[in-house]
Amino acid sequence: MFESLPALAPDPILGLSAAYKQDNNPHKIDLGVGVYKDENGNTPILRAVSQAQSVLQERETSKVYITPQGHQGYIDSMLTLLFGKQSAALSDKRLAAVQAPGGCGALRILAELLMRCNENTVVWVSDPTWANHIPLLGDAGLTLKTYPYFDKASASIKFDEMMDCLKDVKKGDVVLLHGCCHNPTGADLSREQWQAVAKLAATNGFLPFVDVAYQGFGDSLEEDAYGLRLLAQSVDEMIVAASCSKNFGLYRERVGLAAIMTKDAKTASIAQSQIQSVARGIYSMPPSYGGALVDIILADSSLTQTWQDEVAQMRERMITLRQLLVDNLNKQGVDKDFSFVNQQKGMFSFLCITPEQVQHLRKEHSVYFVDSSRVNIAGISQSNVEVLAKAIADTLKAS
Ligand code: LMR
Repeated sequence: MFESLPALAPDPILGLSAAYKQDNNPHKIDLGVGVYKDENGNTPILRAVSQAQSVLQERETSKVYITPQGHQGYIDSMLTLLFGKQSAALSDKRLAAVQAPGGCGALRILAELLMRCNENTVVWVSDPTWANHIPLLGDAGLTLKTYPYFDKASASIKFDEMMDCLKDVKKGDVVLLHGCCHNPTGADLSREQWQAVAKLAATNGFLPFVDVAYQGFGDSLEEDAYGLRLLAQSVDEMIVAASCSKNFGLYRERVGLAAIMTKDAKTASIAQSQIQSVARGIYSMPPSYGGALVDIILADSSLTQTWQDEVAQMRERMITLRQLLVDNLNKQGVDKDFSFVNQQKGMFSFLCITPEQVQHLRKEHSVYFVDSSRVNIAGISQSNVEVLAKAIADTLKAS
């Protein structure tokens, strides 16, 4: 049976890690997979997480199944983190949610739920979007279409074109928006642009689908939820996928949240039964560990403070690294103006160079990043930035 299947090329993002590991160049640089790294290239366990692990070690007395929706304390804290303490949807009990196995799990659960609502659902994704959005949503059977988002030539958002496209999106279609720290471009909507999108969603009746994978990595935990919270006030219904991989550093524990905001509490309870049934049909119930840790952190004000400080440190370090890269590129005398890197937010930047130039950097300089020219800013360090800037300068000259 299986010999008829074609062998597939490595995943465009995860495949880079394998190629990087095999490279013997001592000066190799990994700017591939979106994982936060410190100055030494390590991804340490956050202090808040480490302390929560000790608490959990004491507290957990059984490995019996948790509930199908996950840890309720985790769900409640995450909904507050995302929708805000003042959220009307929260106080009106218009939110249904499950703890999901990572942001990916959340995206897939919501995709399956959309298929249950209408198997002809069209989801509009930004051009470009995170590569894994396509299989996570498309393989569930949804029809994917793209709206213009980013212009490589000017390294900026094509907002007018985006709005021109979205104004023709049909009522009942779904529009996937990156809550903050757009992956792959790092180019985020301004407050005014969010306001225009929220107004359009309310007028035209498309369903906003907000993916929040980097809350706290852009401007702040609160500011990064601006678009999501504005949409929640502007429309009756929306869906949200969130991830704790990056801001809690819980990558391998696979913890995220799938949430649905409905027009009233009765519909929310129907949605809750449906979303749990979707999860039951795929993986039954989520793993406990990551959700239990986040629950402990967000239920304890001192641990929450420790965590918030750590998120701020990660964010500020990435902002510093952006400037460091731009300064070093300028030192190399490159013709291209890379100052846009300083305006982009979160973990990623689009260097706006060609796939051939990306390949050149990989082959000639052992610098690894995605062909689209997306770099993981957190992979840059004081010790590798000069080598990196020289490699980019050489590549630009060579082409
Ligand atoms: C990324 O975009 O690099 C991360 O979200 C990791 C992944 O799974 O692709």
